[in-house]
This record gives sequence, C-alpha cells and structure tokens, in this order.
Amino acid sequence: MERSLTLELVRVTEAAALESARWMGRGKKNEADGAATTAMRKVLDTVPMQGTVVIGEGEMDEAPMLYIGEKVGNGHGPAVDIAVDPVEGTNIVAQGTWGAFAVIAVADQGKFLHAPDMYMQKIAVGPDAAGCIDINASVTENLKAVAKAKGKDIEDVVATVLNRERHNKIISEIREAGARIRLISDGDVAAALNTAFDFTGVDILFGIGGAPEGVLAAAGLKCLGGELQGKLLPENDEQLKRCHKMGISDINKVLLMDDLVSGDDCIFAATGITDGELLTGVQFKGSVATTHSVVMRAKSGTVRFIDGTHSLKKKPNLVIK
Ligand code: FBP
Repeated sequence: MERSLTLELVRVTEAAALESARWMGRGKKNEADGAATTAMRKVLDTVPMQGTVVIGEGEMDEAPMLYIGEKVGNGHGPAVDIAVDPVEGTNIVAQGTWGAFAVIAVADQGKFLHAPDMYMQKIAVGPDAAGCIDINASVTENLKAVAKAKGKDIEDVVATVLNRERHNKIISEIREAGARIRLISDGDVAAALNTAFDFTGVDILFGIGGAPEGVLAAAGLKCLGGELQGKLLPENDEQLKRCHKMGISDINKVLLMDDLVSGDDCIFAATGITDGELLTGVQFKGSVATTHSVVMRAKSGTVRFIDGTHSLKKKPNLVIK
C-alpha cells in the first residue's frame, strides 16, 4: 500500500465530518448520514487508488452510495479494500452528544473480514493489555488481567460499555469486581480506540455492537498495537447463512485480530464530528471550519493527530479540481 494514502484518507473523513456536522443536534440521523456519505464518496473519487468497498453503507440494493462491492478511487494506484462508516454514531450527531466520528480503513485486497450487518460480541484493549484478554473468560478475569498488565488496582480500571439492556449482566459483573464503568450511548469504534490512549481514561471495552464496527475498530487497534476479539452473533437463519458464506462454519469461533484484519498493514483515519474523548468535533466560524483527525498506519505504527482549518469560501464543494 502507498504511504501517501494516509493524508488522502484524512481528506475523505474531514469532508464527511464537515458535511454531517451541519446536522448536529437537528434530530435527523439519516440526513446526517446521507450528507457524510455524499461527501465521502465525492472525495474518495479523487484518491489515487482502485478501491472496493467491503464494509460500507449496506448492500447494492439498499444503499445508493458506498455499498458493498462499489468501486471507489480515481482508478489509478493500488488495488485496495475499503471499510467505511461515514457517521459512526448517527444518533449522537442527531442529538448533538458525545463522540461521533467519520471513519475509513484501507488494506490490501482480501485483508478485511467481510463482516455482515449483524451483532458481534467484543472485547478490546490497548497495547498495554494486548495478549492478556480472552473473550471466553469471565468479565472479572479479564478485568484482573487488564489491571495486572497495566499495573493498576482493579478499582482503578475503567471499562466502557454501550448502555443497552442486553449488557445488564456485564455491567453488574464489572461493578461486583470493583472496577469503574463509562457507559456510552453509541459509538463502540471510538470506545474501542479509546482503550489505547491513556488520556481517555478507559482501559477495556466489553459488549455487543455491530460486526462491521468490530472490523473498523480492529483496524484502528491494529495500528495502535491493541487487541480486539469478537464473536459473530447471528440472530436468524439468513444471518447464519451469511456467516457460513464467509467461511465461518463454527459460529462460536473467536475472531482474533488476524481474522478481522489480516496481514501486517492497514491505514485507519477518523475525523471528529461531535466532541469526544479522542477527537474534538467540527467547529464552524463564518467561512472557516476546523476539524480534528487521527490517521495511523499499522506497518509503521505512526499515529498522527491532524488539525485542519478549512476555508468554506475557497472550497465550497469540498474538492478543488
Ligand atoms: P450507527 O452509527 O450506525 O448508528 O451505529 C452506532 C452504534 O452505536 C455502533 O457504534 C454500535 O456498534 C452499534 O450502533 C450498536 O448497535 P445498537 O444501537 O443496535 O445497540
């Protein structure tokens, strides 16, 4: 993969964030998502690559843009697979709350698990605790392992969990073990990444979220030296068939980092839409907008935070020919 793709990908997530941030707090999640998708699609076409969307906005018949199988890029450059979520946290943007971002990950062809749109059980940690977790072990055992790996008392460990009824048992177990909890309303990709940055104050993610989001989070954590383990949770025959089609015959199979994103390279970029622990959201002032992004590459381990100042006058259509 070309190293120069990194900055190109930030332009893609910046555009999505700039457009969807206009919908912040307006109660319209589909409009926020649509604006981000259109912007992302437009900028993707300027990127020197021959990309195929493998994780996107849905199947061809249900999404007009960034559907699975869609070709993106300017048709030159490396042949790569693309995983995107133009708005990770559509409800967050609609409500104007905490932690939505636009995200893209790119890897050589065939490296991403083509995760279907279903739930996945996940556990994720940053580099300090990578190699110490086990999705089949109890919540308490995992908390103890993280505490040991990070040289903390269990009382100092913070677990992040999506605030859903299905997680009541996990939440009780975390409390009984004496660890602390950060409940989030949405956005478990950001929550997984947060475990790799001490300044976010979060050590481990537990719970069930989207499978496509699991692959995106694994791509980010691969760049950061963290770890995500997942298990697909098909809810009906149709979803079960999808798993079999992907070559996952044993539904209890634990998906490790290499199953989710194989090989030693991928690039991950995200831009904040609303303020979060990792990234601040888009701010508008007259004809200027500011963005905050992270871009990282697994092969080199480089992590860059990029502040962008955008002239909305000079670049009203996001792209300059
Ligand atoms: P969207 O941006 O597609 O709304 O996803 C937000 C999200 O919170 C993900 O981060 C998470 O994986 C999933 O939804 C959880 O699904 P559910 O809301 O059904 O519990």
